[in-house]
Order: sequence, then C-alpha cells, then structure tokens
Amino acid sequence: MDVVALVPAAGRGTRLGAGVPKALVPVLGESLLLRAVRGLLDSGSVHHVVVAAPPDQLGRMGRELAELGDRVQVVPGGDERTDSVRAALDAAERFVPTAEVVLVHDAARAFTPAEVVRAVVAEVAAGACAVVPVLPVADTVKRVDEDGTVLSTVDRSPLRAVQTPQAFTPEVLRDAYACSRDVATDDAGLVERAGHPVRTVPGHSHALKITTSFDLAVAETVLAPAHDSESE
Ligand code: CTP
Ligand code: MG
Repeated sequence: MDVVALVPAAGRGTRLGAGVPKALVPVLGESLLLRAVRGLLDSGSVHHVVVAAPPDQLGRMGRELAELGDRVQVVPGGDERTDSVRAALDAAERFVPTAEVVLVHDAARAFTPAEVVRAVVAEVAAGACAVVPVLPVADTVKRVDEDGTVLSTVDRSPLRAVQTPQAFTPEVLRDAYACSRDVATDDAGLVERAGHPVRTVPGHSHALKITTSFDLAVAETVLAPAHDSESE
C-alpha cells in the first residue's frame, strides 16, 4: 500500500521564540524537521514525504533533508497551517499519484513513536477513511466566561486530545479541502465538516507538539535520549 505523508513545517515558531522557524530548531544536534521526517520513513509504513517549508527557507530545509534521498520533496507552504497542507497535498498528487493513504504530520511532533504511525495507516488499510491518534484528557475541564468566572465543569470522559499523524484516503482529504476554505487546527476537523466519519487510535505522550521552551526542554532531556537510543 503506497503511503505519502504531508509534513507542514512552514510555521514561524512564535511561541518557542528560537529566532528560526521551529522545524529548524535542533534537539541534541538534529533539527525537529529531520527527526520528524526520518521517523516517518523509518516507521516502515511511509514511502514518500512532502514537506511544506516557509517560502524563504526552501533551500535550507531541502539541504536539511538531503540525506534522506529522493523520497522527500520540499514545497513552499502558506500563511496558515491549512494553506501549507493544501500546498503539500497538491504537490503529492503530482509526486505520488498512486498513493492509497495520505498522512498529515506536524514537523513539531518530531518524537512520535513508529507504533502510532503504523496504527493510523493500519486503520485506513482496514477500511477507515480518516483516522486520528488521541489521548484521554488528564485535567479537569471547565467552561469560563470572558471575565474568568467558571460557568460549568465539562464531563471529560468523552473528551480526547488529538495528535498527528492523521491518516486519510486521498479522496476524503481532497474532498475536505475542496469543501472548505476555513482555517482548521487539524485536518480531521475539515473532514468532519465535510461529513465523513473519523476513527480514533491510541496516541502517545511522546507525540506531543513541541510548542514552548518547556516542551523543548522535555524533548532534550526525555524524548530525544529515548528516541535516539531506540534507533541505535
Ligand atoms: N505550520 C505550517 N504552516 C503555517 C503554520 C504552521 O506548516 N503557516 C506547521 C508548523 O510548522 C508546525 C505545525 O504546522 O509543524 C503545527 O503548528 P504550530 O505548532 O502552531 O507551529 P508554529 O505555527 O510554527 O508555531 P507558533 O504558532 O508558535 O508560531
Ligand atoms: Mg502556529
């Protein structure tokens, strides 16, 4: 089964504030981007990767990924994550027209275990049209008004925090992007709005999105050492 992964990496990393796009930030000497893309290919379930880069970083990101060979293509991303995914999806249709599964995976989730990648692909292979990895919500969740006063406590038992990689059939992802010009924080959100069912599989705490300097510290001390010893 031919699988292509789209990797949005065109964000600026404002919350991390590293002075370079977040995907280029090194963790123990290797960028989040290289770690994320190599992790997908090393899972054994992904055959091609299309990376959406900031337009002014195309060359730099291309060089960053050169060691992974011609299974990886870098294209210019857009102003919003949704624009970057759309650009990568358009490129993937030319690059890998035979793809039967399309993954979308944040470059910022550079330490995602291979088992999560394999699980979302397996669920599409088993007949699902859209699959997301999820974790139960650990904190109590409250609804709050604009002044900060609690309105109610939300029953968290049916709530899930959603990660990437998210997996889709090409037809369903294309339909979702054709139906909507909205900005969404995840691709499954567009697929839901287009009326398609979305399945879940277990996510993993190591698939966290590196967003703040605290997350980067966790990556340097916990995630990268575990990840690097696994791949040795
Ligand atoms: N992304 C993208 N194109 C954009 C915005 C985001 O490809 N216009 C990507 C990021 O590179 C990241 C993923 O989407 O891999 C998730 O976004 P986020 O964690 O918000 O990253 P940034 O937008 O870079 O960070 P910030 O919001 O702090 O600026
Ligand atoms: Mg962002």
